[in-house]
Amino acid sequence: MADLNVGMVGAGFAAQFHTESLRQVHGLDVEVTGVTSRRPESAAAFAERMRIPRVYGTFEEMLADESLDIIDLCIPTHLHLLMTQQAAGAGKHVIVEKPLTGYCDPDTDELIGDTVPRQDMLDAVMADLIETEAVLRASGVIFMYAENWVYAPALAKARRLIEHSNGMVCRMRAEESHSGSHASYAKYWRLAGGGSLLRTGSHPVGGVLHLKQAEGLARNGQPIRPLSVMAEVARVTQSERYRRAPSDLTGDLADCEDFGSIIITFEDGSVAEICSSDLVLGGVYNYVEVFLSTGRIRCDMNPNNMVQAYGPTDDSFGDEYLAEKISTRQGWNFASADEHWVSGYHAEAQDFAEAVYQGRQPLSSWQLARDVTAVIFAAYVSAEQGRRVKVP
Ligand SMILES: NC(=O)c1ccc[n+]([C@@H]2O[C@H](COP(=O)([O-])OP(=O)(O)OC[C@H]3O[C@@H](n4cnc5c(N)ncnc54)[C@H](OP(=O)(O)O)[C@@H]3O)[C@@H](O)[C@H]2O)c1
Repeated sequence: MADLNVGMVGAGFAAQFHTESLRQVHGLDVEVTGVTSRRPESAAAFAERMRIPRVYGTFEEMLADESLDIIDLCIPTHLHLLMTQQAAGAGKHVIVEKPLTGYCDPDTDELIGDTVPRQDMLDAVMADLIETEAVLRASGVIFMYAENWVYAPALAKARRLIEHSNGMVCRMRAEESHSGSHASYAKYWRLAGGGSLLRTGSHPVGGVLHLKQAEGLARNGQPIRPLSVMAEVARVTQSERYRRAPSDLTGDLADCEDFGSIIITFEDGSVAEICSSDLVLGGVYNYVEVFLSTGRIRCDMNPNNMVQAYGPTDDSFGDEYLAEKISTRQGWNFASADEHWVSGYHAEAQDFAEAVYQGRQPLSSWQLARDVTAVIFAAYVSAEQGRRVKVP
């Protein structure tokens, strides 16, 4: 009998790296014992490929299995809160991928990103968060927010440096950008729940909120929370100039932004500048810079220069993986030495398993997930109304 049994929901990209990472947990025997997905054939194929013993026909069937301790939700954003509530109601601990939620409406064909006022979106999302928080509180289960930036070795080191300094984190700058998503759902607000600011911006927002939480906890046992935001968004790839320009970007969004920028002011007066975009070639561009009153830290999460590989031709290294979203394998590349480790997936799975086993909160918890969502939807209001907005 394993120490912890996990039921995997979803059979796509995230389900694969979650399953692989949970299997790397050390000191505890963690097993992914079952899977369910929207299409039975997809769940069955995943189970066979990943050697998972059990396939459930429905989510409800999975929840009824008393042997499962944790439900791992690796499914589209619009299902996250609903299925979190169902899992918590069944007494299961829950892992949820980022972003926690969005303003989604999968039943409509409308381009809601063009029509729905952002204040209405903020109000609706906050109401969903309050409802879900109440269910989680009542159930007593542990909620784990799969924000891998919290666990990425570079950011984890920055956190320890901050915790051991006695200075103030005065300013931070963080970004996650790339050349555009190939996922079909990312094109439409109704399915993705937002644009670049939500899809990729949730990582740097999560990263800086986590560092300020950790700073406050280290100084006086209280996390330092975000107070207000000023933001701008843009749809650069829908401009006339872009349509006439040659481009290697994906640039295929319907009613979502492809650029977002937020200035977050924290309750201690410090600031963070966040950027996310689908306008960056040359691979994924992820970094965090921290400006302390007593020091300075730069985390090059992706790319980093641990391995630099030169290939005179595209196939110089055969089919060995180099890095995510690079448009060419020819010439110099920053090769990812171990993407799961660098991204924080192993450390995330380790913390989640230990949190459940020990009955404690994980490093990346509900409070972080909730604050990230509140910051991003307050930012949408700020960008639309051209004013500073208080984070609810
Ligand atoms: N942290 C990270 O670095 C990272 C990276 C990638 C994705 N993510 C997040 O992970 C989540 C999933 O993304 P993904 O890339 O894995 O997407 P994906 O490859 O499209 O996989 C989504 C899976 O969800 C399943 N699904 C859809 N509706 C369902 C339902 N009603 N019930 C059960 N399963 C359902 C799909 O089922 P079928 O296969 O049966 O059709 C599919 O297997 C998203 O929230 C995304 O933002 C995070």
